[in-house]
Amino acid sequence: EKVINVGIVGMGVVGTGVAKILLNQGRLLSERTGTRFVLKTVVDLDWERERGVDLTGVQTATDFEVLVTDPEIDIIVETVGGIEPAFTMVRRALAAGKHVVTANKALIALKGQTLFREAQAHGVELRFEASVGGGIPIIKSLREGLVANKIINMYGIINGTSNYILTRMHRDGLDFDAALREAQTRGFAEADPTLDVGGGDAAHKLTILASLAAGGFVDFNAIPVEGITELTALDINFAKDFGYVVKLLAIYRFSEEKLDLRVHPTLVPGDHLLAAVNNELNAVFITGDYVGDTMFYGPGAGQTPTASAIVSDLVDLAQIIQSGKPASIPTINPEKQVALFSLEEITN
Ligand code: HSE
Repeated sequence: EKVINVGIVGMGVVGTGVAKILLNQGRLLSERTGTRFVLKTVVDLDWERERGVDLTGVQTATDFEVLVTDPEIDIIVETVGGIEPAFTMVRRALAAGKHVVTANKALIALKGQTLFREAQAHGVELRFEASVGGGIPIIKSLREGLVANKIINMYGIINGTSNYILTRMHRDGLDFDAALREAQTRGFAEADPTLDVGGGDAAHKLTILASLAAGGFVDFNAIPVEGITELTALDINFAKDFGYVVKLLAIYRFSEEKLDLRVHPTLVPGDHLLAAVNNELNAVFITGDYVGDTMFYGPGAGQTPTASAIVSDLVDLAQIIQSGKPASIPTINPEKQVALFSLEEITN
């Protein structure tokens, strides 16, 4: 049995979930993959907090360098979130020759190009299955399952907080603020909820999905984004009266050599599959030129779904490490930029 040593930086909700899976599902993972995943070291600044996981036998530290300088650590999981200090940490880890797995959508969307170059330069990989759609294997599906297709369009409900708010407003007549507070209590809103309700989080995730589908980098700043903050009960009820549901959609449309990307509230016909995606659940409806219509559905946030996606990246990386083959070329080519339609071109 081969051993892969894992380190985690950021023992918040998601990092703790990864620890739980590695500690509790070790036997199942070993049976399925022939690899023993050892959680060697976990790094966080706060060791007072009760996390609901028994870390006996796991080294705890406050200094990230402990992970980078330990020659036994094969893979570092980054679950700090946000741009800094996560960016500096991931860059440092890659430069030190460590493979990295992250759930950080803002980081991949805004700094992915730099980080993929760094990974390539050091012969290591940066994986990000958990960055979009939480537990839904959407990244793997785009890069592997649908590889034979040109992606014609994608319509994603990829912000759980906004979908939760819209569902509660539509179904239960709750007002916006009360619904947002509920989403925060349930633990899937960002620390800064304007990222959720302003559409920024969905745009980060759309940047990643579009980059994968188009095989090059997409400029996040060029995506027109409108969130759900201006929606009123009146809008929702009018839509309802006419048989529609209002959803915050991340939209990708391929036309000629340019992409039409946007995030905005959209009227979805009540009988469309996406209209049935409720609460904090996520879904991405994808049309490929050979496969036709597909839909991927499931929990887009939360401790164990997100950790489940991270562990799938760990298993992929373990196989690469054990094969002794060089790291694969990044699926998102950092040297290729994909052109987007501007807002003027879309609206004209
Ligand atoms: N705040 C995000 C959401 C968490 O509501 O979907 C998962 O990325």
